[in-house]
Amino acid sequence: MKTAFITGANKSIGFETARQLLQQGYHVYLGSRTLENGLKAVQQLNSEGLHKVEAIQIDVTDQGSVKTARAEIGFKTETLDVLINNAGINGGMPQSALQADISAFRRVFDTNYFGVVMQYSGRFLTNGVGIVHVDVWQQNGRPPARF
Ligand SMILES: NC(=O)c1ccc[n+]([C@@H]2O[C@H](COP(=O)([O-])OP(=O)(O)OC[C@H]3O[C@@H](n4cnc5c(N)ncnc54)[C@H](OP(=O)(O)O)[C@@H]3O)[C@@H](O)[C@H]2O)c1
Repeated sequence: MKTAFITGANKSIGFETARQLLQQGYHVYLGSRTLENGLKAVQQLNSEGLHKVEAIQIDVTDQGSVKTARAEIGFKTETLDVLINNAGINGGMPQSALQADISAFRRVFDTNYFGVVMQYSGRFLTNGVGIVHVDVWQQNGRPPARF
């Protein structure tokens, strides 16, 4: 059975991705910043008849959390077929890049950039794993920053 791990999958795009992979027969590890929200999402999917899904607590900005999630998944499966880096924030968009507070940039980079790098340092990768990055923002086909 194919396996997938999706970060930020307790709602929105990540949740819908989990649903569709489950419908295709994947076993899904549903990443959620809080376990409580992850378990609620799993309950919702279970109520739709989708059962091959488990909640995994992961905050992609916290190295300890990433390591713990990796260890937890490592106990459950030897390989991941698909890793979806979906967790992301928009940093308060829309706003002008020149007026945005530097702390907004830091939060976005921590989550959308270093959060992805952290997955690599946490060795989520196995031979042949397919990686999907969702956390790239565009507006009307253009980069979102307005100068
Ligand atoms: N919606 C769009 O138009 C659009 C366009 C382009 C790209 N994207 C990208 O697509 C991805 C999903 O977007 P969305 O609209 O579904 O966003 P969303 O509704 O805001 O959901 C984001 C998910 O990421 C999680 N998350 C945020 N920070 C996290 C962290 N530090 N660690 C772990 N999880 C974290 C959130 O968890 P909590 O529930 O705990 O907050 C939530 O589950 C994002 O990466 C976004 O940048 C979205």
